[in-house]
Amino acid sequence: MFDSIVATQAQETTRAYDRIAPLYDLLDGIYEHSWKRRLRAVLFRHATGNILDVGVGTGCNIPFYPKDSKVYGIDMSERMLDRARNRANDLSCSVTLKSMNLFALDFPDATFDTVTVTFVLLCLPDELQEPALKELKRVTKPGGQILVLDYQMSSKPGVRLWMRCLSPWLKWAFAARFDTATERYVESAGLHVVRKQTFMGDGVTMLILSPSPTSGKTEISE
Ligand SMILES: C[S@@+](CC[C@H](N)C(=O)[O-])C[C@H]1O[C@@H](n2cnc3c(N)ncnc32)[C@H](O)[C@@H]1O
Repeated sequence: MFDSIVATQAQETTRAYDRIAPLYDLLDGIYEHSWKRRLRAVLFRHATGNILDVGVGTGCNIPFYPKDSKVYGIDMSERMLDRARNRANDLSCSVTLKSMNLFALDFPDATFDTVTVTFVLLCLPDELQEPALKELKRVTKPGGQILVLDYQMSSKPGVRLWMRCLSPWLKWAFAARFDTATERYVESAGLHVVRKQTFMGDGVTMLILSPSPTSGKTEISE
């Protein structure tokens, strides 16, 4: 059952992103320039050491990788990876890019200091959120961290309405949704929230997760 849900997600995602790859940066450009870049900068301030960028896409995070880090980027869509390769070349950034499903990461346990996953868990149905977090945890060092940036359904009526209106487009074009609610699965995946920060009328959440118990959780909203 689990294998067939993973296979379906892989098939739908690959089809959607191979199709949208040539237009992805153009279609997402208005969001990228008006707010996503700013939030990527905030997220990557917390990134250190060996980094795995899960669902690297066209490589929008590449400009924010710390200069002294060794970075791997993985994605299911070859066409998105091609664009990430071009971006890495243009920026003279050394990043190892590989085709891989996040449910079967080809890395030993406890490999990375930081695992980043930005606007990727929104591609997964509810039943795959916990297994995804468990696989990310597996490759994270015990003292490392998982940095998540993703949409969540806003509690603000205006933002909520805007998200509802855009949901069919997001589903069709990006095989994605706004109501990801990843935080609900953090505890059962054996992870701990170190920091939670919300942006854009609480329609976007940054979570810093630790595989090891922490002394407390910081919550900030913009
Ligand atoms: C909305 S894009 C985000 C790309 C990038 N992380 C960013 O912040 O711009 C989602 C990416 O996640 C990838 N993805 C979705 N499900 C995946 C999976 N199971 N394994 C690997 N990559 C996946 C898609 O192929 C796509 O490139």
